[in-house]
Amino acid sequence: MATKIKSLTQCAAWKALATHHKQIQKLHLRKLFAKDPKRGQRFIAEAAGLFLDYSKNRITDKTLKLLLQLAKESNLRGKIDAMFSGKKINVTENRAVLHVALREPKGASILVDGKNVVSEVHAVLDKMAEFSNRVRSGEWKGFTGKHIKNIINIGIGGSDLGPVMAYEALKHYSERNLTFRFVSNVDGIDFVEATHDLDPTETLFIISSKTFTTLETMTNARSARDWLLAKFSGDVKAVAKHFVAVSTNAEKVSAFGIDTANMFVFWDWVGGRYSMDSAIGLSTMLAIGPTNYRAMLTGFHELDEHFRTTSFENNLPVLMALLSIWNTDFLGAETVAVLPYEQYLKRFPAYLQQLTMESNGKHVTLDGKKVDYQTSPVYWGEPGTNGQHSFYQLIHQGTRLIPCDFIAFGQALTKLGRHHDILMANVFAQAEALAFGKTAEEVKAEGTADSLVPHRVFEGNRPSNTILAEKLTPEMLGKLVALYEHSVFTQGAIWNIDSFDQWGVELGKVLAQRIVPELESKTVPKLKHDSSTNNLIRCYRKLKSAK
Ligand code: F6P
Repeated sequence: MATKIKSLTQCAAWKALATHHKQIQKLHLRKLFAKDPKRGQRFIAEAAGLFLDYSKNRITDKTLKLLLQLAKESNLRGKIDAMFSGKKINVTENRAVLHVALREPKGASILVDGKNVVSEVHAVLDKMAEFSNRVRSGEWKGFTGKHIKNIINIGIGGSDLGPVMAYEALKHYSERNLTFRFVSNVDGIDFVEATHDLDPTETLFIISSKTFTTLETMTNARSARDWLLAKFSGDVKAVAKHFVAVSTNAEKVSAFGIDTANMFVFWDWVGGRYSMDSAIGLSTMLAIGPTNYRAMLTGFHELDEHFRTTSFENNLPVLMALLSIWNTDFLGAETVAVLPYEQYLKRFPAYLQQLTMESNGKHVTLDGKKVDYQTSPVYWGEPGTNGQHSFYQLIHQGTRLIPCDFIAFGQALTKLGRHHDILMANVFAQAEALAFGKTAEEVKAEGTADSLVPHRVFEGNRPSNTILAEKLTPEMLGKLVALYEHSVFTQGAIWNIDSFDQWGVELGKVLAQRIVPELESKTVPKLKHDSSTNNLIRCYRKLKSAK
């Protein structure tokens, strides 16, 4: 995808957007809505059962036109086609980017180095389904012949966040007789707390790691093996019944002592943060069963097809990406709050943090030139309505502009009295309050004392998207994740960066490997770091041996 287009800020559409921004920066959403009573019905898009209202963004028809022009000038269409056809668009790692192949239906074909990867995907899916059915039915037994009751996924980053998020999101559909836990942190407490009340004879570990070299995961995996073997007096034959692996690295899996017959593979063209629907989703399939898992893949695919084939003005991920670029690069927003009004999506913001920021947190273009514009904003969030009683104050009245994505559903998965209507009233109210606020006149008219008026004014003009769908099903989760995946892709394509590498995580990993022996050494190590790091290491060594 090495590009011949000129620097982004030199594109005609970018320059036009900069001029346009100067002209409309004082416009208020109150005015925009007053001028156009149909605005709330015009700035919307709908596809695959997802409804997007983006009318509460600080845009006009012209803004949208220019943003669409920017997409065109950035060769977004060509870049989408390059991804879907298996071109090696991850240029710094010379890899194809084909998470979309993971949800292609049987019989489809995408070639990578002359091989049809879709048939390989389905072979793994079938193997996962067979294994899941055996565990769920009790046919797969532990070393002593007991049923498996507990499943622990050990992984980190993309090998953890997707599985945890999906497990929580789809709990309603999960097998409640099985206990699922997720261990990611190298802080031993994560492992200890996940296992303290479990019986090893009934526990299955899934060691999930694309590389099978990640320090945290391998450290936890070794502790898991020790924990298990302690129960079986060190009999390593137990490992085969209690450990399976998900990885691209058969050699390392085997070296760890897991039979590759118990390994579920994926491929280097699946990025870690795009892997929740690869074999990395094994824990998800074990929880919700193969049929629900396939429904989730169908949802992903439906959104893929929408993204691939729909004109940009009606294309949900493209619209969301363009609005994010507008908010980030022209309005100066530095973060995006993702606010699901659905408790099952409580881990969705954490999942999105890796997807968005590991993908688009980049400072150079594809050809290595330093960018002269902002790339990924910081993503964060919490489920509503909890956030309303903590950080929403800053969104409403703070000094920063924080665009919000509200996500909500027409139906609760379990109805409970008036709860869902109250929940939904809150999501609509928040978006309304953020956009329109409350003027000093309105505050005064309520009889507020003059001294309090400034404190009670809400400026409004805070942008938000509202995403609505009927209910949170496995299929809908697939659509929602694909929506953000493709929005991230579109932003990266326009910023002309490599959204699929992650060199920024390397330096810390290398330094940590150097420091570990300095902390563990029995003799006082010769330290060659900066004076602060040297001092902290000395301090830690003292603290750890304090009586
Ligand atoms: O360190 C970052 C990272 O490489 C992520 O991109 C990845 O999802 C995570 O670590 C885990 O990697 P692995 O699956 O190879 O253990």
